Amino acid sequence: MSDFFRLDGKVALVTGGGQGIGEAICLRLAAAGAKVGVFDLDAGRAQRVALAIGGLGLAGNVTAEADLDSAVGDLKDHFGGVDILVNNAGITGKAGKLWELSRQDWQSVLDVNVLGPVLCCQAVAPLMRERRYGRIVNIASIAGKEGNPTLGPYSASKAALIAFTKSLAKELVGQGDITVNSISPAVIHTPILDGLPQSTVDYMVSRIPMGRTGKPEEVAALVHYLASAEASFTTGQCYDISGGRATY
Ligand SMILES: NC(=O)c1ccc[n+]([C@@H]2O[C@H](COP(=O)([O-])OP(=O)(O)OC[C@H]3O[C@@H](n4cnc5c(N)ncnc54)[C@H](O)[C@@H]3O)[C@@H](O)[C@H]2O)c1
Repeated sequence: MSDFFRLDGKVALVTGGGQGIGEAICLRLAAAGAKVGVFDLDAGRAQRVALAIGGLGLAGNVTAEADLDSAVGDLKDHFGGVDILVNNAGITGKAGKLWELSRQDWQSVLDVNVLGPVLCCQAVAPLMRERRYGRIVNIASIAGKEGNPTLGPYSASKAALIAFTKSLAKELVGQGDITVNSISPAVIHTPILDGLPQSTVDYMVSRIPMGRTGKPEEVAALVHYLASAEASFTTGQCYDISGGRATY
């Protein structure tokens, strides 16, 4: 019984693991026994979290194939492979209405939030297919289901991530025990909120029936389940963690 949800012998790669939700996920997976590669744009943050959990700090950008290949290579050398990928790195981009945002404002968000997870999956899926085992968890957002005003690029990017999850999940069926799922948190208290206008944050909290922001640890608990061997008969799904905001 006590072995349920243990991740001993498993290796996880968590992008954006240096702070916020990603950091909580790293701590949770490590506490369950996984060896964790903490991948982040900010090398200092990645090292700090890795040091705390006996993991491997990996500096890099999710939009750079070379950084991802080198991270996967390091994980293979140190821990023998990658069993779990958590695509958590993401940015909100600039807040603004359609007529206030430029093509570049859109492009930068789509690059990190959509292309980033795609490239991470491309870097890791061959290993999972070879070993016929894998768990991929993509951190989307309630914005991808409902659309938040002034966060058009972000909302569209997270909807794309939910759809990509569904299509990749089906491509990997029949290649062993490999699942791909996404989760859609409502507003969670992390530094990502510092970059947003207070009115945008207030709007998001006002839509949550529980009337509060979520905690990174609450998100990490759901990721832990989806990253476990027990979560073997669910793929292509989007899990809610929104304090009651989502109604579908
Ligand atoms: N906080 C929320 O309210 C909330 C709600 C729903 C979904 N999410 C999603 O959860 C994820 C984590 O959010 P958070 O609030 O912890 O964010 P955060 O800004 O606190 O942390 C994100 C981390 O990702 C890293 N990062 C950013 N761009 C990167 C890149 N290109 N390559 C590698 N690392 C990069 C940053 O350095 C940072 O350490 C994001 O995908 C976000 O969209 C957050």
